[in-house]
Amino acid sequence: MSNKLPNVPRRRQVLDDLKPYIQGSGAHPGEENWVKLSFNESPYGPAPEAQQAYIDASNLIGPYGDGQQTTLRRTLAKTHDLPVENILCGNGSDELISLLIRAFLDSGDEIVVSENGFVNTRTHAIVAGAKILSAAERNWTIDVEAVLAAISPRTRIVSICNPNNPAGTFVDRSGLQQLVDSVPSQVILHIDEAYAEYAMPEPGFESVLDWQSDQQNLVVTRTFSKAYGLAGLRIGWLVAHSSVVDAIDRFRTPFNANTAAQVTATAALECQEWLRQVVIDNQKVRNEFVSRLIDLGLEVIPSVTNFVLMQFPPETGKSGSGAYRALQAQGYLARPTASGDACLRITMGTAQQMEDVARIIGEYLAGHPL
Ligand SMILES: Cc1ncc(COP(=O)(O)O)c(C=O)c1O
Repeated sequence: MSNKLPNVPRRRQVLDDLKPYIQGSGAHPGEENWVKLSFNESPYGPAPEAQQAYIDASNLIGPYGDGQQTTLRRTLAKTHDLPVENILCGNGSDELISLLIRAFLDSGDEIVVSENGFVNTRTHAIVAGAKILSAAERNWTIDVEAVLAAISPRTRIVSICNPNNPAGTFVDRSGLQQLVDSVPSQVILHIDEAYAEYAMPEPGFESVLDWQSDQQNLVVTRTFSKAYGLAGLRIGWLVAHSSVVDAIDRFRTPFNANTAAQVTATAALECQEWLRQVVIDNQKVRNEFVSRLIDLGLEVIPSVTNFVLMQFPPETGKSGSGAYRALQAQGYLARPTASGDACLRITMGTAQQMEDVARIIGEYLAGHPL
């Protein structure tokens, strides 16, 4: 906007390549009645005990909170059987990714990412002045060989999402092992496991959360925003070698995980049975929804997450944007993808909502007027 005007402060040039984040519809005043299936949020919200803990935390918000995040880190360590010194929490996993990038990327360094994935990882890398190398995927699935081939002597971070966005596919154990074995030890290997809770019961999926002890360059990020249903609270966590945690500890803002978030997330962790049920319910709803779409003649990339990517074959003469509009006309918001009009991503809502969505898509394909 103003970078070329002589009498205003001159912002950093890298920001010219970025645009402010525009949140899609559904989260603004007046849009409360829309069914928002565009942000991979949980239709079940948080566990009731976590919600109660949040209400009780209103007594705690006067003073500064615990900058060491003691109870939450200990509870995460206990829940996942991890050393507490390898854990750090933050204002969503997005913040932790930004901190990781700021700690390890200098201007001119390289980060290797996969073609699809979490867009903010790229944003943080651009702000750091880093060069982004994007490895092509195969059929919406991360191609480990392509990721490894993109590494150069200037690479400082390799970052992939597992499961990946927007299709919900995953790299299996042998692919992960190949990454761990082949990414040079002086390069950070970041695995973004934002959707791992959903994928845990799926055949072939494996988390690398506990691979860290043998692997000093491995960093895993997780979040309470997805299966735990706490997206609005902003709390995520990272597992890394203590030297990585120490690097970030040197400059993170001391209270980056706020009191209400720490207390609520701690209570949420105590509700593992509730989480298990959310994951089972999601799996059931997703599998039923996917079979409905396949019956309608759509192609669906197999997903292990709480979202699916449907593809409209050219012979249907239908498109992702057409389906988007058909859904929107009946109060449902899906997510168009950056990669063209043949696809549409949609988050799993409740069983009833997904029945409605499948019906609307069926009507759209049958050519009923919108
Ligand atoms: C793949 C992936 N990683 C990370 C995030 C960030 O999640 P949060 O900052 O809410 O923890 C998201 C959110 O949409 C995501 O899709």
